[in-house]
Amino acid sequence: MKVLVTGHAGYVGSVATQVLAEAGHEVVGLDTGYFLPCHTEGMTPSDPARVIVKDVREVTASDLAGIDAILHLAALSNDPMGDLAPELTAAINRDATIALARAAKAAGVSRFIFASSCSIYGAGNPDLLLDETAPVNPLTPYAASKVESEAGLLALADGTFAPTFMRNATCYGLSPRVRVDLVLNNLVCSALSTGEVRLLSSGLAWRPLLHCRDLARAAAAILAADAGLVRGEAFNIGQNDENHLVRDIAAIVAEAVPGSKVTYGAGDTIDPRSYRVDFSKFAAAFPDFRFMHTAASGAKELVAALAGRTTPEDLTGQRYIRLARLKALIDGGKLDSDLGWKGARDTTPFVARQARIPVAGPSISPREVELVAEAARTAWFENHAKYNTRFEAMVAEHTGRKHAVSLAHCTSAIHLALAALNIGPGDEVIVPECTWVATASPIVQVGATPVFCDIDPVTWCMSPASLAAAITPQTKAAIVVDLYGGMPDWARLDAVARDHGIVLIEDAAEAIGSRWRGKPAGSFGKASVFSFHGSKTVTTGEGGMLVTDDDAIAERINILRDQGRHPTSRALITEEVGFKYRMSAMQAAMGVAQMERLDELIAMKRDIFAFYREALGDAPGVTLNAEPPHVLNSYWMVTAVLDPSLRLLKQQVAAELGADGIDTRPFFYPLSWQPAFRSQPSARDAAIRNPNAYAISQTGINLPSGYNVTRDVAARVSRSLTSILARHARRAA
Ligand SMILES: Cc1ncc(COP(=O)(O)O)c(C=O)c1O
Repeated sequence: MKVLVTGHAGYVGSVATQVLAEAGHEVVGLDTGYFLPCHTEGMTPSDPARVIVKDVREVTASDLAGIDAILHLAALSNDPMGDLAPELTAAINRDATIALARAAKAAGVSRFIFASSCSIYGAGNPDLLLDETAPVNPLTPYAASKVESEAGLLALADGTFAPTFMRNATCYGLSPRVRVDLVLNNLVCSALSTGEVRLLSSGLAWRPLLHCRDLARAAAAILAADAGLVRGEAFNIGQNDENHLVRDIAAIVAEAVPGSKVTYGAGDTIDPRSYRVDFSKFAAAFPDFRFMHTAASGAKELVAALAGRTTPEDLTGQRYIRLARLKALIDGGKLDSDLGWKGARDTTPFVARQARIPVAGPSISPREVELVAEAARTAWFENHAKYNTRFEAMVAEHTGRKHAVSLAHCTSAIHLALAALNIGPGDEVIVPECTWVATASPIVQVGATPVFCDIDPVTWCMSPASLAAAITPQTKAAIVVDLYGGMPDWARLDAVARDHGIVLIEDAAEAIGSRWRGKPAGSFGKASVFSFHGSKTVTTGEGGMLVTDDDAIAERINILRDQGRHPTSRALITEEVGFKYRMSAMQAAMGVAQMERLDELIAMKRDIFAFYREALGDAPGVTLNAEPPHVLNSYWMVTAVLDPSLRLLKQQVAAELGADGIDTRPFFYPLSWQPAFRSQPSARDAAIRNPNAYAISQTGINLPSGYNVTRDVAARVSRSLTSILARHARRAA
């Protein structure tokens, strides 16, 4: 069908146009553009290709030629706006609706879905579920306009014109033009930006809730139904289980935003608008329809998209508060007092707070803020170690290791591991070519010699065959890296190490949460190390940890990290030269909060990878991170390796993505190629010995993988990447 969506550039309209297009309809938008620029931070709406830029009060039958159905969403939606100018609410919501329906009828548009509202029930008896036959009791000009519109439309219904009334529950959920003046969205924004789920009332009013996407899907179901089933019918749209007390909605939000807490306003009043609604009629008429969301899932979705992207100003500002937006347009001289445009429309989107897409970035919830603040207040005197001890215990438990020692960085953990193993001058330590320099620099710092071996073409981690070939009588150890969250073939690496009597150290800096045959990253080799740098999956700003089952190593590391002070040392007496590599209590407190959220963080990372996988599809010549069946990859960095046949180097792709506002990182350069290591004996002929590393490094690129990557961001990056590839393919042809 050719469906006109009025208010397509609003909160629900921005989702409904997508949903109807996905359902196979040809969608035309109609909007005057009040909220056109109000993009959700980090999202870009995909408006229909054909739009009519017009005030809904001015639509005529000729605008509707060829249209089969109308989903009429356009309205002044705010109760406060209705109070401010009740006559405008009546003119836009009621009079324009009836005029639109008349024009539709004249143009032969047979189906007309009107977005009405459960708020028409006003103050209902909370002991009763109100069905469509319940008396209406509109308490606001907005609700009154809906009641009067329904009556006016019903009078027009006949054999050729089938209006249907969707009495929608209160909407929530993510949209490319989100509003935070709706109860659940407001509480999420409040929790994310202030740490408080702030209720202005006592929260004892009932509100049925409905995800805006489910609303749009219900509209699609009504459009697909036989006209006889829906002509002149009103349906309450929502789910019986989703009638909530406002204070229960607050509790759901508090659960979705770790560390946030519910606060109540001074007034102990009950909101006069309180209604519990019966949604059985819609369920009976559409037995195959399934609602996809609950308040809990919708809150989580909003948190994932908006965490780190909202400020307290968003709770009152014009980007997300419709009334504030209209007032700003009036005050700025753009709209007259009847909400007519005075001159040119204001269509420039709000400047994105993050104009560039960064390559990495953490997920910090109010829980991290709470624990760091708590540590700043309390982790002193006899309590100075309490967060370090807790953080260490959590990492030890996660990895199944006996000991965990918190340190200043992962680099210091590698340094101390080598020192504790007495590795020094004359010893060789094997490292994979492709890793961050921190895997190899400590080898040089302890006076030993790094030896570079090749990586596996699938896992991008150390190749067991190349490890075996690099071992000499001087080899003491190998540092194996779980690159970008991927896992090497630990069984074969262990076998090689055992056969040659060398020690393996696992550099799991990039892989917390990954698993190999069910065993967690951090449980392989004699000792494993983690990084909690700001770019990492779990962060403490800067920080590291060493885990081991070996009592002697753990004891040595404890001494070495603290200026060589032995447990028996007298105050300020030092037995040996050590290092100052301790982690501070504030960092450890952040680590505790992050470890509490580990499952959530890994799920987010895996979602980000899935967004890219979905958006890139089977782009020819692009290989993403591997996840063989026995591996669970925590995908620290989503990485694309381009087939050499595309003849595109990583630097070129990075420059072009950069010009498009997208930051990336090159796949690690081979260590033997790095100026810092070129003079090492093992760097000689390394390009010939380690061909996989040299080939993959040339065309590999890390895509933005920070926690602020949403499906939309991944889609934008993927679009940019595929268009770069297509451009070069055309040039090469
Ligand atoms: C593989 C690898 N090893 C070691 C490190 C060093 O970690 P840190 O920065 O915490 O010292 C990193 C961090 O970037 C890394 O990616």
